[in-house]
Amino acid sequence: MKHDVFEKNSIVLLVGILVAVSIGGLVQIAPLFWIDSTIEKVKGMRPYTPLEQAGRDIYVREGCYGCHSQMVRTLRDEVERYGHYSLAAESMYDHPFQWGSKRTGPDLARVGGKYSDQWQAEHMINPRSLVPESIMPGYPWLATTKLDTTDVKQKLKTLRMVGVPYTDEMIEKAEEDLRAQILVEGRAVRDLKKRYPKARNGKFDQRPGTDPSELDALVAYLQILGQLVDFTTFDAAGPNLR
Ligand code: HEC
Repeated sequence: MKHDVFEKNSIVLLVGILVAVSIGGLVQIAPLFWIDSTIEKVKGMRPYTPLEQAGRDIYVREGCYGCHSQMVRTLRDEVERYGHYSLAAESMYDHPFQWGSKRTGPDLARVGGKYSDQWQAEHMINPRSLVPESIMPGYPWLATTKLDTTDVKQKLKTLRMVGVPYTDEMIEKAEEDLRAQILVEGRAVRDLKKRYPKARNGKFDQRPGTDPSELDALVAYLQILGQLVDFTTFDAAGPNLR
């Protein structure tokens, strides 16, 4: 038999393995040098607002990913439960991404808009007041802790260094935009929405006051998850790509 030579000589086998693995590697890696982008651009995606980004940092700080994933798989049961499967573009501005595979709680990739701000705020303070059988811990201190806004500009600048397309204007106005998002109306809110389409504004934590709390930021973040791409018009075949 012809493959005897591989079985009887370890050096020949080694060379054979190297050749086979290199071909496999080339087939996978080489095309990446010729296609424009490994993530197709999708209409609607934008960087997070400064408040949403701050909320995302709290999400990471509190370790919510220990119980929640943020990626709807392309499986029928997932799509029926959560909605359209996740696109790569939906997490392209996430550093680090929150895909995960641990689901003690449900996937959160499409939780934005599923509940009111009031529900989200109350659920974070005491999950069992809304879902009696819940085993999720409460995070009541988020409501009473003022959001640290001192590094907001720096955060956007850093994200820009790793490829998030924040403009000079977005960075310049970061603090204003962060504060505007918890206002109910006004010029600052309109400016924010011009820079960040679909941004949702309001008293996320359901409390009066002009200083954003950590809960404001976290709820603003949860409410934008899965909201940027319009899946009523999205067509994976291409015409909706930017
Ligand atoms: C110990 C595991 C655990 C941790 C940690 C945890 N959760 Fe949950 N979460 C759950 C479970 C279980 C549910 C489902 C029951 C419920 O709604 O309370 C849930 C539900 C939710 C829901 C509602 C989802 C839906 O579609 O109904 C949101 C939003 C949520 N969690 C956000 C968070 C955030 C934000 C954090 C971090 C600050 C967090 N969770 C931390 C276990 C956890």
